Formats: sequence, C-alpha cells, structure tokens
Amino acid sequence: MSDPQIRRIAVLSGDGIGPEVTFWGIKALKMVAKGFNHQFIFEKGLIGHAAIEETGKPLPEETISICKGAHAILLGAVGHPKYDNDPSAKVRPEQGLLKIRKELGLYANLRPIKIFESLLGASSLKEEILKGTDILFYRELTGGIYFGKREKSLDGKTAYDTMSYSEMEVERITRMAFEAAQKRNGIVHSVDKANVLDSSRLWRATVNKIANEYPDVQLNHMFVDNMAMQLIRDPKQFDVVITGNMFGDILTDEASQISGSLGLLPSASLGKHVGLFEPVHGSAPDIAGKNKANPMATILSAAMLLRHAFDMEEEAAIVETAISDVLNKGYRTTDLANENTDQEMILGTDQIGNQIMEVLESKLFQSVVI
Ligand code: IPM
Ligand code: MN
Repeated sequence: MSDPQIRRIAVLSGDGIGPEVTFWGIKALKMVAKGFNHQFIFEKGLIGHAAIEETGKPLPEETISICKGAHAILLGAVGHPKYDNDPSAKVRPEQGLLKIRKELGLYANLRPIKIFESLLGASSLKEEILKGTDILFYRELTGGIYFGKREKSLDGKTAYDTMSYSEMEVERITRMAFEAAQKRNGIVHSVDKANVLDSSRLWRATVNKIANEYPDVQLNHMFVDNMAMQLIRDPKQFDVVITGNMFGDILTDEASQISGSLGLLPSASLGKHVGLFEPVHGSAPDIAGKNKANPMATILSAAMLLRHAFDMEEEAAIVETAISDVLNKGYRTTDLANENTDQEMILGTDQIGNQIMEVLESKLFQSVVI
C-alpha cells in the first residue's frame, strides 16, 4: 500500500559522535520508509559547537525554522570539551539544546529503561536484581533549575541558580505520565525533595491533585536521595517515574547502568507541537571519529520517533527487534563488552550499524512480501 503523506524529519546531528550515530538513525528510518512505502524527507540543521563554528550561535534561526516546519526532529549530541573547563565562555553548545527544548515547548522527556535479555551480564549490577525491569521516566524538560533566574555577584565570588515550578508546568507532565501508567502497570512514582524545597512541595501537592483524576493509578512519592538508592537496590518496583528537570537528568544517567550502557538509551521530548528524539548520551568527544560509538541509542530514538511522532507502532517495533536480534547474535560495541566478550564480536559503529541494517532489511522485506 502506498502512503501519499510526506513526512519531514529535521536532523540536527550536532557535535562529537553526533554525526556518526545520526547517520545510522537516518539509515534505519530510510529502510523503514522503503519497507512500508512511507515518504520521509530529511532536512539538516546546525546545533551546538558545530553551529557556533559556522554562525557564532549555538542555535541559529534557520535551525529553529527547519524544526518548526518538520513533523519530527532527530538529534545527535551537543557538547565540546573546549567549553567544559572554561567557565568564562558566554556562548556554549548546550545553550542550543536548552533553547530548542524551550522554543518548541518540549516539556516532557520520556526516557525508557529496558533490559535486553542478552545484555543482563553487561551491567555492573546483579542479573537477579535487573531481570524484568521496565521503567519509563518522565523528566520535566523546560522548567526547574535549568531555566530559573541565575546570577553571579559583581565581585564574582558568589553565584546562584533558582529552582522554580509553576502548577501548570507540573500538571501537564503529570497528566502525560498518568496516562502512560494507565496503559502500563498503573504505578507512578513522583520524585522530589519535598522535605527541603518549596518548589518540591508545590510539585507534590500538584501531583496529588492530578492523581485524583486517575483513581486506577497508584501514586507513590519518593525523595530524590532515596530514589537514587532504590533505583539500584530494586529497580523492578518502578513503572512510571515522574520528576523535575535536574533530578531527571541525574537519575536517568544512573538508570542507564540498569540497561548496561548509556549507549543504549533513547529519548523522546514531547510537547504541544513537533517532537524531538535523541539519545540520552552526550557527544563523547574522546571517541568521536574513531568508529567506536554505539549507534543503538540513536536507532532506538528513531524507533521512538516512528512511534510517537508518526504513530507507527509496527514500524517502531521492527526497529527495536532488529537491535535485540543483533545483541542476541552476540555482537557488541566497546561500551557493551566486558572481559568475557569474544574480541571478534566487538564491532565498530559502522560494522554494528551494518549488522542492524541487514537484520532490519530481512525483517521488513519478509513482512511486506507475505
Ligand atoms: C541530557 C544532557 C543535557 C541536559 C545537557 C547536554 C545540557 O545531559 O540531555 O541529559 O542536562 O539536559
Ligand atoms: Mn544528561
């Protein structure tokens, strides 16, 4: 069946390993388009250090308009070591990422933590603790301390950032998380620091209020310090987790170790309009250009793009199965390998990318023919 609708995908590959991993994300999307007769058009835009080099700005106007005109956005990574030890830099690559999230109103960042059976041994945590874990984080993405008032004193000896949340900001992400929980196991954990912070007390009261609309969902509150501990003590207790911007940033890096590597974690940032899909990992400058990066998080982000932006569940599931099949065959990237991994099974970015495409191709063309 031919699908006449043209879907535009903005691609912001960004910095470091960003271009290498988005290359494979695009390949997967193109393969899916071919298999299902969809029409995807890709438009590239600059962001981060790459954009600063060319235009002086981490997020040029042109990129914003490409994104606003697209049906979905695939992003690689943003960041450059040059700025990390230079607190005086006024223009920074990360500003591009924060700005695009804000400009596009992408207030909900979904970060699923799943276990691939064949990778149970790749985590530093015990198999019996991990087995069966399936968590969906909802990280608030356009508020909190990332966007609060900040200032440095005139003498340069003091600085502050503020964490602030409005009821409206908490309500909309809470609704989204509860709706997801209704379709999953019906449990929500809301994470805050309400024993200390006023913004957390408002967060908690607002979550409680919205929870009344969902009597079929069980709500638990957890302090963020306890959550950091519970996440590795017993990750299976969690279903949907909802939390603020900075707590979510930190907890999802921690949670990546449950699935074995940050190189496996995809994310979807959703709001009112176009959605943005990006791996959770950063630009990894130490391995950039070395054919070492794991493209799986980006390919899985492309799967989330298919699911959330285009409502293509079947297509998304095929991409995800292709990844787990390649892992089942025993292939690993460096980040997933340990001392027991057979050296011959450790592949570079391009080699594992090709393996995934081969499996994807066979699945797609089999399912179309039948
Ligand atoms: C992430 C990243 C970003 C964040 C950085 C690069 C600004 O760590 O997406 O998790 O803190 O949100
Ligand atoms: Mn992060």
